[in-house]
Amino acid sequence: MTRKFVLIGFMGAGKSTAARALGPGGADVDHVIEERAGESVRDIFARAGEAHFRALEEQTTLELLADPSVRAVALGGGALGSPAIRAAIAAHTVVWIDIDVDSAWHRVTHSHHPHRRPLASDPERFRALYAERHDGYWELADVIVPANRAREIAQVLTCLDGLPDRPGLRTLWAASASGDYPVHIGPGLLCEAGFWPAAVTGRRVIVSDYNAFRHHGAHLSPAFADVRIMPGEQSKTIAHAEIVWTEMARHGVTRSDVVAALGGGVVGDLAGFCAATYQRGVPVVQVPTTLVAQVDSAYGGKTGVDLPEAKNYVGAYHQPAAVIVDPLTLTTLPEAEVAAGYAEVVKTALIAGGGLWERVAAGAEPTDPAVIAGCALTKLRIVASDERDGGPRQLLNLGHTVGHALETVTGYARYRHGEAVGLGLLAALRLSGQDALREQVADLLAARGLPTHAGPGLELEPIIFATAKDKKRTGEGPVPFVLLRTPGEAIYGQHVTPAALRAAVKELIA
Ligand SMILES: NC(=O)c1ccc[n+]([C@@H]2O[C@H](COP(=O)([O-])OP(=O)(O)OC[C@H]3O[C@@H](n4cnc5c(N)ncnc54)[C@H](O)[C@@H]3O)[C@@H](O)[C@H]2O)c1
Repeated sequence: MTRKFVLIGFMGAGKSTAARALGPGGADVDHVIEERAGESVRDIFARAGEAHFRALEEQTTLELLADPSVRAVALGGGALGSPAIRAAIAAHTVVWIDIDVDSAWHRVTHSHHPHRRPLASDPERFRALYAERHDGYWELADVIVPANRAREIAQVLTCLDGLPDRPGLRTLWAASASGDYPVHIGPGLLCEAGFWPAAVTGRRVIVSDYNAFRHHGAHLSPAFADVRIMPGEQSKTIAHAEIVWTEMARHGVTRSDVVAALGGGVVGDLAGFCAATYQRGVPVVQVPTTLVAQVDSAYGGKTGVDLPEAKNYVGAYHQPAAVIVDPLTLTTLPEAEVAAGYAEVVKTALIAGGGLWERVAAGAEPTDPAVIAGCALTKLRIVASDERDGGPRQLLNLGHTVGHALETVTGYARYRHGEAVGLGLLAALRLSGQDALREQVADLLAARGLPTHAGPGLELEPIIFATAKDKKRTGEGPVPFVLLRTPGEAIYGQHVTPAALRAAVKELIA
């Protein structure tokens, strides 16, 4: 049987639009049921009840999945409640059209087809249903496409060309104002399959550090050139960017070539910045090999270098052409680096809430591909709504204002970025008045060997001074903080009193 695309997602996500956009052979289950019955879904619900409709839905779905003339099937919103349908779609490529609950509500309440949505009359029930179904979509999805790309789904799915058929592989489509790209996440994708996206042509220029290259450089062959820097944050400087630019020029790299950034966040930020600026911009493929990079820094297109005065002060937005994430590259990563990445996992899970936070709070392994993909999806959703940090993207800075200040006052040498973020998270939770959650997070961090105190030898005033250098601050105003109401509900642009900030930092260095 040839693989079909099975389109899943909540009401209003645009599954029917996507099925239509996939051309001849696109079938929408609700539409087929209505045509055959000669009445609307809402009327079938009203006349014969939900159980009758679900039986009809199951029968029609199974029939369409077995029909060789059908290429793509858009399932009804509740179809995944049927074990028979869940079993049948396992042999196909499941594409989740992902929509946030507010957009879904807006769409269904302004829909041309209100008769199709018998479950969309009560906003509270709608939200509850969304929360109930969300993790089910997540579990089943091979490909996740944002709802605002449903019309372009045919182009989006070409990113699957040449992708090996491997268990556990997921592709997330990253949408942003300045460019879209696929994120392929799969154990062994790089180390075993040597995957490189077919759509990214051009000679590969590997930019890496000595550790990442030694362990994984061979998986990216054939390379046209490679440039290696010394490992560590101390390499994220303009001087190192100049080394990379110079090496690229010496090798005769042109704009039709592509930079492969192989390594952690330092390499990703530096190589991305060099790609953004070399000859005014060459493409970059991010190939993250640390946990920090796989859950966070490889996505979203922020690139740059540090100044001695402050971190990440010079840079550019440069979205990657693709991201290749192989969790197996983490098997060579030192334990302390995995721990540093864990702080970013906890941060992301606190922002996401829901199933991701539940898994992380229950002690999930941070290198679990599902945890990595969950963090990636969380970041991509936020960046899609705000590429340039004007609003919601600031949420990703939970814990970072104090975290960056700790890195700055210690000359970037004492803490790994993730370690500083873990400490910053504790300060942010105290400032949020989340005392019990702070204890829970401190326990999670401590269980992975992360510091929960910043002492000894640190002084309060330089840290407070360094927080004022935060890039989110505008003009002479106070530094805005990201605070947390509850997991899943972070808020940005919050002002805290100087006394509260002092107390939260003092507690860390006591
Ligand atoms: N651009 C963004 O959106 C963003 C987001 C978060 C963090 N960051 C940046 O990321 C940086 C931190 O990244 P990081 O924590 O990955 O640090 P890193 O890049 O310094 O890597 C940590 C260490 O792991 C080594 N290493 C990398 N891959 C390895 C592997 N597979 N096996 C063995 N060793 C390996 C490196 O050589 C290095 O010694 C910071 O500069 C931070 O500002 C950027």
